[in-house]
Amino acid sequence: MRNPNPSSRTLVASIIVLSVAGLAGLVGFLPTRSGAAEGDVAETWAGTCASCHGAKLTGGQAKSLLDDEWSFGGDDTNLAESIRNGREDAGMPPFGGSLSEEEIRALVIFIREQRKAYERDQTTFAAPEGDTVVESEKHAFRVETVVDGLEIPWSIAFLPDGRMLVTEKAGRLRVVEEGRLAPQPIVGTPEVWSEGQGGLLDVAVHPAYEKTGWVYLSFSDPGKDDTAMTAVVRGRIRDGKWVDEETLFRAPAELYLKGRVHFGSRFVFDGKGYLFFTIGERGHQDHAQDVTRPNGKVHRIHDDGRIPEDNPFADQKGAIPSIWSYGHRNPQGLARDPLTGDLYDAEHGPRGGDELNIVEPGRNYGWPIITYGMNYDGTPITNLTAKEGMEQPVVHWTPSLAVCAIDFYVGDRFPGWRNDLFLSSLAAEELVRLEIEDRKVVHQEVLFKGIGRVRDVVSGPDGYLYVSLEPGRIARLVPAVGAVETR
Ligand code: HEC
Repeated sequence: MRNPNPSSRTLVASIIVLSVAGLAGLVGFLPTRSGAAEGDVAETWAGTCASCHGAKLTGGQAKSLLDDEWSFGGDDTNLAESIRNGREDAGMPPFGGSLSEEEIRALVIFIREQRKAYERDQTTFAAPEGDTVVESEKHAFRVETVVDGLEIPWSIAFLPDGRMLVTEKAGRLRVVEEGRLAPQPIVGTPEVWSEGQGGLLDVAVHPAYEKTGWVYLSFSDPGKDDTAMTAVVRGRIRDGKWVDEETLFRAPAELYLKGRVHFGSRFVFDGKGYLFFTIGERGHQDHAQDVTRPNGKVHRIHDDGRIPEDNPFADQKGAIPSIWSYGHRNPQGLARDPLTGDLYDAEHGPRGGDELNIVEPGRNYGWPIITYGMNYDGTPITNLTAKEGMEQPVVHWTPSLAVCAIDFYVGDRFPGWRNDLFLSSLAAEELVRLEIEDRKVVHQEVLFKGIGRVRDVVSGPDGYLYVSLEPGRIARLVPAVGAVETR
């Protein structure tokens, strides 16, 4: 705890106050996301477990399951074993005969969710407004509005001359120059299917923009009969118009799908002439395992759209040759480690089980065969969290934060943050700093929470850290007086 008594204009990024007194009053059930109904797992709990452990897991005849103190071990396997085989000497009956392995797994996820919700209820997070200074672990900062009045700003990219490009989900590409939003969007950008999660998605600027002038866009491309699929184009901006457009990725028409969810998508240039991009599984979870479909995949192409000959499925008959890795749910974050070159993706999970992965060619990331989550309605997806031939996440989050964009900080205004990974989240409305060592996340810090859904985070060329906040704001983190420099 850095500062237990913050002054009115100074917030500590997170103060954890775990008090046993008043525990019952503070515990609340985690609201299920996006209004989904309480589902089966809550019913199982109420009907089978609540009589001993309490309706809200706070204990009764048997112990509380919220205090993170475990008599029989606290990892997922121990919890499942306690439920399956019982701890009969201690008075815990076995439920392996009446509950399926999937139901037991859902109960473990449920216990994790409730525990985390309880912990969060007792944690104060910074929610900076105006000129509030946040004292985080390594730096004091303010969140300064750069431009407001946008409509769901999806992605931010910078031109070498300092102008900022912003996509609005509804289909507009906007330009911000010296803090002012140009009133007219760029004319002539592709028509997008702007329904549900679909629309104009990522924007990126070619690494050699000064020579080439290329700007890259990904979007939900409308197909026949109200179908859509993520597509990628590049073009140039000239006199406020989108010109010279080239299509770099467009799936065959018969693979376009109905449905309003999981389009991905983010770009990463790797500095060697390749472009990586992501497509979510479009709500068809089994497609993530099917390499004849583009959805649920990370893709790699040359920056002009050609297929690299050494792509892992380039020679496999029927496969989509741009596929780099598969078994992804909805990867909305993609970033390259500036020190190691490792490619990371952040994936929005189901209820529980958001993931950060290191993406390697040809590998299977497991969705939906393995997952740390369950369905939104509390019914199980599977009891498997690991399987031979499938990759484990670097880290996973239950309950889901609704992870979105990620970026490594490479600026010099926050020296203590250099090369850390920043993660934005939608439902949890958090900006999280992750310290990575040897391909593992060794520390996480919530920098702020609750000032809007955070859809993009970008290490700006001027050394500030930029975020897009819903409903319509681009803001940046700027160092404040009192910044502490460690390391
Ligand atoms: C008849 C009462 C009873 C019922 C019903 C019951 N439990 Fe228990 N449970 C216990 C007791 C007693 C213990 C031993 C710990 C303690 O001293 O409270 C225990 C232990 C546990 C543990 C291990 C805790 C640890 O510290 O390692 C877990 C996990 C657990 N129960 C989950 C459940 C779940 C999930 C259900 C419903 C499927 C359930 N229990 C139903 C009485 C019960």
